[in-house]
Amino acid sequence: MLLAIESSCDETSAAVLDKTIVLSNVISSQLFHTDHGGVIPELASRAHLQSISAVVREALVTANINETDLSAIAVTTEPGLIGSLLVGSNFAKGLALRLGLPIIPVHHIEGHLYSGCLEDSSVEFPFVALVVSGGHTSLFYVESYSEYQVLGSTRDDAAGEAFDKVAKLLGLGYPGGPLVDALAQKGNSSAYSFPRSMLHDGTYNFSFSGLKTSVRYFLQKNFHEGVPSEILPDICASVQQAITDVLVAKAIRAAIETNVKSVVIAGGVSANSRLRKDMNYRGQKHSIRIVAPRMSFCMDNAAMIGFLAEKKFQEQPEVYSRLDFRVQSASLRAKRT
Ligand code: KG4
Ligand code: ZN
Repeated sequence: MLLAIESSCDETSAAVLDKTIVLSNVISSQLFHTDHGGVIPELASRAHLQSISAVVREALVTANINETDLSAIAVTTEPGLIGSLLVGSNFAKGLALRLGLPIIPVHHIEGHLYSGCLEDSSVEFPFVALVVSGGHTSLFYVESYSEYQVLGSTRDDAAGEAFDKVAKLLGLGYPGGPLVDALAQKGNSSAYSFPRSMLHDGTYNFSFSGLKTSVRYFLQKNFHEGVPSEILPDICASVQQAITDVLVAKAIRAAIETNVKSVVIAGGVSANSRLRKDMNYRGQKHSIRIVAPRMSFCMDNAAMIGFLAEKKFQEQPEVYSRLDFRVQSASLRAKRT
C-alpha cells in the first residue's frame, strides 16, 4: 500500500493506492482564497499545516488501513508554492522516517500527465497530453512512464489564469474557470469576437495574455459602468470559445502530426465543458480517442501522484531510500528521454 500526499498549491490531498488501484483520494480545497481573488502563498501554507494530519488520517480510514500497512510514501516536490510544497514534503518525510519507508518524490505536472492512464488503464503509449491548469498550459508527446517530450507551452499566461483573470475583470469570483463555464452555458459563443493568439503559427505554443488585454479594452470601451448581468453569459461564452478553440486545434493537430491514437486532457481546465465537447467532436472526426479523467483526478489530487509514484517505484525501487530530496517552486524539464 502506498500513501501519496499533494500540497503544491491550494488543495491538501492524500490518497491510498493498492498498486494502481485508488482506495481513497481525499481532497481538501482552501476555499477562503476566494475572498482574496487568488491564492495567497503564505495563507496557503498555513492552511496546509492545519489540515494535513486530518486529510492523511481520513485517507487511511477511508481506505480501511493502518499506517503500518503502508510500504511506501509519495509526495509532490515540484513545481508549486514553496511553502505549500514544504508542508507536504516535511510531513511525508517525518512519516517515512518514523515508519522506515521509502519516499518517492513526484513532479506535479508529470502527475497530471499520466492521470489519463489512472482513469483508463487501456490508454496506450505513445499519446499526446494537454495539461491545462491555473499555472500550466503545455502539450506533451508521451512515450512511456519515464519518457516524454514537451511539444509546446504557453509563452505567457496559462489557460486557467486567463479564465481567472477574465472572471476578475467581469467581477465574478475566484477561481474563475468554473464560473465562466457555468455562465457560458447560457450564452452565445459567437456574440463577440476575441483573439485566438498563435492559432495558425504552426507551433504547439500558446499565448493568452492578449486575450485578457482585449477583454479589458472591450469592457472599458463598451461597459465602463459595469457589465449588465444579461450580457455576461454571451461574454463568458465568447471568451471561453476563444480559449478552447486554440487548445483543441493545437492538441488535435499534435495528435495527427505525431500519429498517435489518443489525446489525454488533464489539469483543472480540463473540467471545462466546452473543451470536453469540442475535443470529443474533433477527436471523433479524426478517429482520435479523447481521454478526460473524472473531476477528482483532473484537479490537484494525490491519487495521480500516487499512481505515478507506483510506476516509478516498480521501475527502480532501490533509488527511493534517500530523504535528502529537494522541493522546487518552478521547473518543467524541456525534454526527458
Ligand atoms: O489543476 P488545478 O486544480 O490547479 C493548478 O493550477 O495546478 O487548476 C486550477 C485552474 C483554475 O485556473 C481554474 O479556474 C481552472 O483550473 N478551472 C476551470 C474549470 N474548472 C477549473 N477552467 C475552465 N473551466 C472549468 N470548468
Ligand atoms: Zn495542477
